[in-house]
Amino acid sequence: MDHTQNIQWFPGHMTKTKRQIEKDLKLVDAVAEIIDARIPISSRNPDIAALTSNKPRVILLNKCDMADKAATDRWIAALSEINVAVLPVDCKSGKGIDRFVPALKNLLSDKIEAYKRKGMLNPTMRVMIVGIPNVGKSTFINRISKKNKAATADRPGVTRGNQWFTVSKGFEILDTPGVLWPKFDDQTVGERLAFTGAIKDQIMDIELLAVRLLDLLKELKTPAFSERFKLTDEDLTMESYDLLGLIAKKRGMVIRGGEPDIERASVMLLDEFRAAKLGRITLELPNES
Ligand code: G4P
Repeated sequence: MDHTQNIQWFPGHMTKTKRQIEKDLKLVDAVAEIIDARIPISSRNPDIAALTSNKPRVILLNKCDMADKAATDRWIAALSEINVAVLPVDCKSGKGIDRFVPALKNLLSDKIEAYKRKGMLNPTMRVMIVGIPNVGKSTFINRISKKNKAATADRPGVTRGNQWFTVSKGFEILDTPGVLWPKFDDQTVGERLAFTGAIKDQIMDIELLAVRLLDLLKELKTPAFSERFKLTDEDLTMESYDLLGLIAKKRGMVIRGGEPDIERASVMLLDEFRAAKLGRITLELPNES
């Protein structure tokens, strides 16, 4: 489990993080924002546009291997705008990462050309990575910099003593990512971060969380979910708590008297969702924001 999950955000931390990011932004030409493709709304920092003062941005829709392909395509279209490139990636396997540098080249082409006109033959463009905890920032940095260096910052903001990694000729990334806060004043956001494991289970009621996840899974009706637990269409019309009981029984999770072991089933359901065993599932679509 990732220790960045332990970050507690207080106003003081946020102010410090903001200041540090503002400082680091002065050193970079572009920002790479990493979000979770399964929850592209909930895994975004709410102040990202203001924080990055409209620097050219690459949005990396990470963990695409666990997200629904059609939903990811919709997100790519929805998030693309001037000065923003959107790339689906899977940092665990490395899929899609080779498009990062070409996207930067394209995004920064005017700037690179301007340097060249001024006589600088090989200008170096610098990029910083930002994102909320657990979206895959350190996995991305380790992969792109082709080094097995653990680059996770275990506290908000970017640690001092900046180091730069070359990712390609003329492109460098800051070794430590900017760790940003999620939107906390929204219960739905908190729940979705908990479904994906970005927020620790201990701070949420696990059974309630499993029931809320089932609410969504019943709506989505992903075949892999029904098949895994051998659920009929009629089963999917049950109240989520009862459905959780049925799932428990189907898995042989019973306690004294044959009652379903709801707690065990809740842990199992969340684990299986987090491991994408219930299918490739995206919980948020563009028009829902
Ligand atoms: P962070 O720096 O943004 O906090 O995130 P980090 O890279 O630590 O990644 C958080 C978790 O997400 C890690 O799993 C990592 O392996 C996983 N991850 C990152 N990118 C991808 C991806 O594209 N696909 C999938 N499926 N997983 C990804 P972990 O369980 O915390 O650690 P580990 O079991 O991998 O060691």
